[in-house]
Amino acid sequence: MSQSATRVRDLCSLLGVEQPILLAGMTSVGTARLAAAVSEAGGLGLVAAGRLTPEGFGTEMDKALALTSRPIGVNIPVVRDTTLMQGMIAAALQRQVSPIILGGGNPAPWAALILKAGRKLGIVTATPEQARKAEALGASLVVVAGHEAGGKAGADEVGGMVLIPAVADAVSLPVIAAGGIVDSRTAAAALCLGAAGVQLGTRFMLAEESPLHAETKAAMLRAAVGDTMIIARRYGMARRMLGTPAARHIAEREAAASQDEMIALLAGRHSERGLLQGDLATGMVACGQGVGRIANLLPAAAIVHEIAAGIRPVLAEAAAL
Ligand SMILES: Cc1cc2nc3c(=O)[nH]c(=O)nc-3n(C[C@H](O)[C@H](O)[C@H](O)COP(=O)(O)O)c2cc1C
Repeated sequence: MSQSATRVRDLCSLLGVEQPILLAGMTSVGTARLAAAVSEAGGLGLVAAGRLTPEGFGTEMDKALALTSRPIGVNIPVVRDTTLMQGMIAAALQRQVSPIILGGGNPAPWAALILKAGRKLGIVTATPEQARKAEALGASLVVVAGHEAGGKAGADEVGGMVLIPAVADAVSLPVIAAGGIVDSRTAAAALCLGAAGVQLGTRFMLAEESPLHAETKAAMLRAAVGDTMIIARRYGMARRMLGTPAARHIAEREAAASQDEMIALLAGRHSERGLLQGDLATGMVACGQGVGRIANLLPAAAIVHEIAAGIRPVLAEAAAL
């Protein structure tokens, strides 16, 4: 068996899934319904903790677990509020969710809690160095997103073509690649770069089960590959967004804005208006460059099946070169 095939097989058995395809952790988007639909199709759905209370997160996990008997994972963004972090991790540990993936801030204070409970730990990393630290902390897998990705952007702004193999070479853990993966070709490419699996954000935002407002989905379907922008590079708050008026306003304010103003401009409620209420005039819509390559709204299961079925033919076609 080839090294790539072994990597994929090992990841699938680690996660208990049929396909190495994950729903990316997405604040306000990774709901029970969407996560369960991805898991039911043989991938792995991640319920997103971002912006929820521990109670709300618990309810969402319970709903997902009731909708499918297949594995469900979670993504918890690491925040400074330690009480909130403790509540989120406790909520996850009370339920049969795995892996528990920590995104954003420093995972070190929280890793032991998850490992001590015997759960699989995933860590979102932005550099090969962070991936090595994640391995040293005892993670079972790392996630790495190239600069194409939607949402928060790594400070170094390195594209997936460079970052994915660099991280894959830095650790012996399975690497889940993200950023711009929307179809079989991009998924196959990530596997060729050394990933064991892929995580898709933007593609699943345009699933029928995604909670995005219909207007927002329509705007994303109209978008071209150059229609996203990185905003808020100052103060280490960079993120990739659809170029809505709100995103352009932040870009204009950026040079002059204080840190407090920047935090206020990026408040989660502005994203909820863009994502969930379809308010594209004042709301923000985080999404990746791959948005320009998505032409249809499909059920999550069709997305998983179409991508999974296409990987081998893509690789066979390339092998015939
Ligand atoms: C709307 C949105 C919300 C996100 N929220 C989170 C989050 O809560 N935690 C996290 O680790 N990553 C988050 N991300 C990043 C995704 O997990 C993923 O890495 C990214 O979407 C992959 O790139 P793609 O959108 O090109 O597929 C978010 C991305 C988007 C688009």
